[in-house]
Amino acid sequence: MIDLTTRYMGLELKNPLVVASCGLTKTVRGVQKCAEAGAGAIVLKSLFEEQISAEVMELTNHANHTGHTEGFEYLQGYGEALGPQDYLKLVREAKQAVSVPIIASINCVHNNSWAAYAKRLAAAGADALEINIGFLPRMAQMTSSEVDERYEQILYAVRSQVDLPMALKVGPYISSFAHLADRIGNDRVAGTPFTVGWCGPGETDKEITWRGADALVLFNRFYSFDIDADALQLTGGSRYSATEENHLPLRWISLLSGRVKSDLAAATGIYDGRDVAKQLLAGATVVQLCSTLYRNGLGQIGHILEHLQDWMQIHDFAQLEDFRGRLSQARSEYPEHFERIQYIKALVGIE
Ligand SMILES: Cc1cc2nc3c(=O)[nH]c(=O)nc-3n(C[C@H](O)[C@H](O)[C@H](O)COP(=O)(O)O)c2cc1C
Repeated sequence: MIDLTTRYMGLELKNPLVVASCGLTKTVRGVQKCAEAGAGAIVLKSLFEEQISAEVMELTNHANHTGHTEGFEYLQGYGEALGPQDYLKLVREAKQAVSVPIIASINCVHNNSWAAYAKRLAAAGADALEINIGFLPRMAQMTSSEVDERYEQILYAVRSQVDLPMALKVGPYISSFAHLADRIGNDRVAGTPFTVGWCGPGETDKEITWRGADALVLFNRFYSFDIDADALQLTGGSRYSATEENHLPLRWISLLSGRVKSDLAAATGIYDGRDVAKQLLAGATVVQLCSTLYRNGLGQIGHILEHLQDWMQIHDFAQLEDFRGRLSQARSEYPEHFERIQYIKALVGIE
């Protein structure tokens, strides 16, 4: 009897297949279909930081026109407390409709007042929160440590508001990713939170106990663009990933597994049972599926589960723990194989 159960961010999952945040999870009916198809957990479509802020802004502008300062402050507070109601309704109804864990998702770039909204997601019944930091570090004035601090600040801001299991979905455009993963994926006993960053009002010198994220989702896939060389203009890139793209999460999961406390969710380019087995061997706690479900339909979840079970049977694995992380660098007798040696082997002799 094959056991596919796993724990992810402290939640009990019947299997490690998580439907990623996308259009398939933006309605209660969509969520139900994913659950019926056999998903272990579901990440809801993201609410954007701007959507929360826009609602506050709209009310604020209205108050400014009427010129009542007290009214302005009241409305600002009211607006922040209101938040996008529809999303809260989705969380509440999705929770009622299915028994698998529901992970709410916020797409953000800053650590500002939207963080308070996380409390309302918890009250609506979200089992966990995934924070998609959709921030592309492209400004020459911004240093690598400032980029790292942005990630830490966002996690700290939300943690200060609510005690929900939290995943950080992070982008690959980081100059020293292992360093950042160490900072956001591990706990620290005490220390000043940020070297140049933000600590919250009146907290500049406060020492904090730092709690890392409960999970890191590797990696966020940024909307891609392309160039139409005939029309001499920009055009949209592929909306869906290609299976080759899963080498990036595979590399980083195999390097980080056993080295960060956070759970690791593999994301991008995971299409079939073999892809899932590879990510688990590298050390992933769960995998997230999106493009494969758009391209092959939700029935793909069942096919992947069958494939995974057959593969486990062939290799005499009864549960995920029997092989998870077996091919991670931390457990390897030949850690150098994960780094330069493979590169040299691949290139030497090739003309
Ligand atoms: C149509 C579509 C909508 C998406 N919307 C979101 C979103 O709202 N929030 C988010 O974090 N990721 C979003 N994503 C990204 C996916 O969650 C996923 O991380 C990405 O597609 C890579 O996984 P894949 O290779 O399995 O597609 C979206 C992807 C697609 C294709």
